[in-house]
Amino acid sequence: MSPFDEIVSLFHIILTDTYYITTMLDRYTVVSLLTGKGLFYMKIVIINGSPRINGFTSTILHEIERNLINKDVSVEYFNLSELSIQQCRGCCSCFVLGKCIIDDYGDKLSNIIANSDGLVLGTPTYASNVSGYMKTLIDRGHFVIEHLLKNKQCITVVTGENYGKNDASKILNKLVLFSGGYLSSKIAINALFEIRPVLSIKHKKICKNASIKLHDSINKNKEPLLQQLLHFFVFNFGIKPFVLRKGSKYAGVIRKWKELNII
Ligand SMILES: Cc1cc2nc3c(=O)[nH]c(=O)nc-3n(C[C@H](O)[C@H](O)[C@H](O)COP(=O)(O)O)c2cc1C
Repeated sequence: MSPFDEIVSLFHIILTDTYYITTMLDRYTVVSLLTGKGLFYMKIVIINGSPRINGFTSTILHEIERNLINKDVSVEYFNLSELSIQQCRGCCSCFVLGKCIIDDYGDKLSNIIANSDGLVLGTPTYASNVSGYMKTLIDRGHFVIEHLLKNKQCITVVTGENYGKNDASKILNKLVLFSGGYLSSKIAINALFEIRPVLSIKHKKICKNASIKLHDSINKNKEPLLQQLLHFFVFNFGIKPFVLRKGSKYAGVIRKWKELNII
C-alpha cells in the first residue's frame, strides 16, 4: 500500500468511526466523554433491602437491572443481607469527621452511591415499614443531612403482601426527596409470598417503564419543579439552619456540602 493509500484508508476509518460514534452520542455521553467518565457512561446502584436474595423484591430489582443493562447502563447490584453493615451507634462523630468511625461496608456503600448517577432502593414491607436491613442503611448511609442524593435520579421499590406497603413506600420516597434526590418512579407492588416468585406481564411492564423513565431523567437532566421546590424548602428552612446552629460539631457535613457545591 502506498503512503497515499494508507492516508486515504486512515481517513476512511476516522470518518466511518466518527459517524458511528456520533449516531450513538447523546447529551449525557458527550458530557461523560468530555469529563473523562468513559463510554460506560451511566452508573446506577441498585440496593435490595430484603433478607431474601431471590425473593419478590429482588426479582423486581433484577428486572429493572436487566432493562438498564439493555440500555448500556453500568449497574452495581447489592444485597444488604450479604454486606457487613453494623447498626448506627448514635455517636454523631460522622457530623464532625465527615465519615463514620465504624470500619465496615456502611461508608463504602455510601461512597459508591455518592459516585453514581442514580439509585434504585428496594425493600419488602415489614410491619408497615422498611426492612431492618434497609433501616440500618438509612441510618448509616449519610443520606439526609449530608444530602447524599443531591440531584440524583431515584426509583423506590416496595413489595408487600397485605397492608402497609404505602407507608413503607412513603418512608423511602421521603428519604430520597429529603436527601436532595429526584423521584423518577415509585413502585409499590402487592405480592403473594412465594419461594420462587415469577413476574407477571404487568409487573414486567412496570419495571420497563420505570427503567426507561430513570434512564431518560438522567439523560435529559429532568428536575420536576415541585420536587425542586420541596428540596429548596427542606434544605434552606430545615436542614441548613439546623446544621449552621451546631457550628463546628457539624464541620464534616459542611465540608461535604462544599464538595457537592451545595453551599
Ligand atoms: C417479618 C415480616 C413482616 C411483614 N409485614 C408485612 C406488612 O406489614 N405488610 C405487608 O403487606 N406485608 C408484610 N410482610 C410480607 C412481605 O412484605 C412480602 O411478602 C414481601 O413481598 C416479601 O419480599 P421478599 O420476597 O423480597 O422478601 C411481612 C413479611 C415478614 C417476613
